[in-house]
Amino acid sequence: ENMKRENFGSRFGALMAMVGSAVGLGNMWRFPYLVGKNGGAAFILVYLLFVVFLCLPILVSEYALGRRTQKNAFGAFKMLSKNKSWSLIGIFAVLAAVCVLSFYCVVGGWSVKYLVESCKFNMPILDSSYFTGFISSSFAPVIYTLIFLALTGSVLVLGIQKGIERFSKVMMLLLCLLIILIAIRSVTLPGAMEGMKYLFVPNLNALNGKALLEALGQSFFSLSIGCGTVLTYASYVSKKENIITTSFMVAAFDTLFALVAGIAIIPAVFAIAYMNGATPEIGAGPGLVFITLPSVFNAMPMGNIVAILFFVTLLIAAITSAISLMETFVTYEIEEWKLSRTKSVLLAFAICSVLGIICSLSQGVLSNVRLFGYNIFDFFDKLSANVLMTGGGLLLVLFVGWSMKKEDYIDELSNGHTNGVPVWLLTTIYYLVKFVAPITIIAVMLGNFIL
Ligand code: PFF
Repeated sequence: ENMKRENFGSRFGALMAMVGSAVGLGNMWRFPYLVGKNGGAAFILVYLLFVVFLCLPILVSEYALGRRTQKNAFGAFKMLSKNKSWSLIGIFAVLAAVCVLSFYCVVGGWSVKYLVESCKFNMPILDSSYFTGFISSSFAPVIYTLIFLALTGSVLVLGIQKGIERFSKVMMLLLCLLIILIAIRSVTLPGAMEGMKYLFVPNLNALNGKALLEALGQSFFSLSIGCGTVLTYASYVSKKENIITTSFMVAAFDTLFALVAGIAIIPAVFAIAYMNGATPEIGAGPGLVFITLPSVFNAMPMGNIVAILFFVTLLIAAITSAISLMETFVTYEIEEWKLSRTKSVLLAFAICSVLGIICSLSQGVLSNVRLFGYNIFDFFDKLSANVLMTGGGLLLVLFVGWSMKKEDYIDELSNGHTNGVPVWLLTTIYYLVKFVAPITIIAVMLGNFIL
């Protein structure tokens, strides 16, 4: 059966697919507004600590599970566990991926819309009432959500090499180029240095239990760990690949991209606010990219060109991530339900469309439906990052640390002790996964209620 399974064609292609999954709306939309909301540099500092000591070991582990089994998220746990209840983690992961995609595709739809508007040079009218009016209407945002999902699905029907790999390779290069251009534009605006200070000089007072949980959720969300996408992509990676170096590169690149995106956005917001004698509205939350930024583009020399570049970047980043989310479900359908790739993609498209439409409408006609005080969209957003992905990550480390054989795990990480990764590093990673990761995740989750 494994003979027929497609693989990534090259090391570079596999890396770009993983980076494409990690780099997305999380870096360009979620990270900057969380930094803004939670006090800037202090939040970034905590975020970085989580990435290095927690997420990296989990990323490595999820990668190892996928590569060892060469199966979908559910199949992988089923194959590795003696006790069948562990395979429920796989189902949990697939559900988490679908859940993330359900609200992600709505924001993806907004990016399509804003790209269209910026191409029409419509920046001046994109103020906050325009944005609220748009997202709360019942027709347009739904159509854009469906367009976004259709774009995602159309890459997936082409398969691993011709679809995911080829698309990611081209798009990630373009993405890097664009975000660097925009960051340069941002920091060269007069007054931008205040924004750089906000980003890089920590104010520890702004940190509380909630900020810690948000930093944790964001680090999982940004690295795409805990919901089976890394596992799924890893299942298409060759046995010769060095898991540790690839994971390290993915994490480093994703973090760098988030910081550069922060530099592209926050200093520009400061600069333009000072120019107008206003206070920078950095805490605008989810609206930062769609409300605050258009006004910044508007006031900036060559702003409309920058706006077009920005929304192209946002859209590409969103699609390469959505692809990995949908593929997690698609691979599951193909292998567990024995559907063809095309049928799997169509079914995934249909299910995500329904959920996406509900999330989109929850900004308008369905806004009265409240779950734990949140509307459906915010509920899916918070649930995905702060509960499902962190919870999925917790189950995953418990599985690797306490159910899997240590030798098997180390064997996969070191390609049977042939790839030259030093033993001390392998052992350190193992103990981070076995003890440090579960304790930290549980502590932060509980701390959120106490602090
Ligand atoms: N990492 C993506 C981002 O930062 O936008 C979002 C994401 C993709 C989350 C894939 C989860 C996932 F499985």
